[in-house]
Amino acid sequence: MKNKFWSERINYIISLPQGHQRDAVRKLRSTFPKNHTEQWNTEFDSGSLYEAWTNILPMQNIYGLNRKVIRDFTKEINSFTITEIGGGNGALWRNFLPEDKNITFYLIDQNPKTGEIIKSLLPKNVNFEFVNKKVQDTDIPPSDIIVSSLILHHIPGHTAEENLKYNIYSPGKLEIVKKLLDSVRNKSGILIINESDIYTDIRLKPKTPFLYQKLVDSYIRRACKAIIYTMEHESCSEELFEKLQNVIIYWALEQVERAGNAELPERDVYELDAIHWLELLESAKANIISHKNSDEWNLFHQYVIN
Ligand SMILES: C[S@@+](CC[C@H](N)C(=O)[O-])C[C@H]1O[C@@H](n2cnc3c(N)ncnc32)[C@H](O)[C@@H]1O
Repeated sequence: MKNKFWSERINYIISLPQGHQRDAVRKLRSTFPKNHTEQWNTEFDSGSLYEAWTNILPMQNIYGLNRKVIRDFTKEINSFTITEIGGGNGALWRNFLPEDKNITFYLIDQNPKTGEIIKSLLPKNVNFEFVNKKVQDTDIPPSDIIVSSLILHHIPGHTAEENLKYNIYSPGKLEIVKKLLDSVRNKSGILIINESDIYTDIRLKPKTPFLYQKLVDSYIRRACKAIIYTMEHESCSEELFEKLQNVIIYWALEQVERAGNAELPERDVYELDAIHWLELLESAKANIISHKNSDEWNLFHQYVIN
């Protein structure tokens, strides 16, 4: 019988009136030590919290569905170029790409550690190029497939023009999506986007009840429930249980305060819900080949477009 500590605590929080949930999350967080040695989303090696996170079902679903799209699209071609924006721990690529095709792979990631990790996961026939830059700061090579999984929510706002009103001096999601679309249209390729269905973008001011509620909905009601599902599954090892528990404490519980209180340029999560994504894709004149909710917690959606 698996330990039910986390499901009891999280179910209790989400049973409360919405206006009380943030305080309940803070209270629960305060019962655990203050700091963890690892900053979320910066470490991706085999012992990292991100590695544990990629074991949960919604993440495995993302990788499974993306693999299917890539496999189907490349079935008949022997030579192709893949560009990945934001590689993380490279879980998508483990034992995946064929060894008998001519493949060029560009990784665009601001974190220098991801280059080595992803390179080590690719078969020898893949010609690997690492562009150690932010996607906002680089051109995108013509690509048959671009994978942009859980990275666009790090880009604030819709457009550079909108961002200016909020004193943010960088392109918005629309400009980045258009740049990615230009790259695949060059080769009649496809762009795969995975993102969540929650709104935490710049129009929501810091430290407001509405923003905290959105963050609780995303990180507690959906993400924690999905994490706990894996923790309580009979196949979950003690080691993975411990790590996922730390993901809950040092990422999910903490994120409500961290993202809720941060000044806009430091928020780091500028999510759109699915309706806003669809509107943005329409503004980018994207052709939507497929769009689906990729898991049962409504955490993530997959969009395949060109
Ligand atoms: C949440 S991880 C997603 C990793 C992987 N795609 C997946 O689905 O598991 C985000 C990745 O994007 C990278 N990243 C964040 N902001 C970025 C930016 N502006 N430009 C390029 N890479 C970025 C991070 O370093 C990290 O590798």
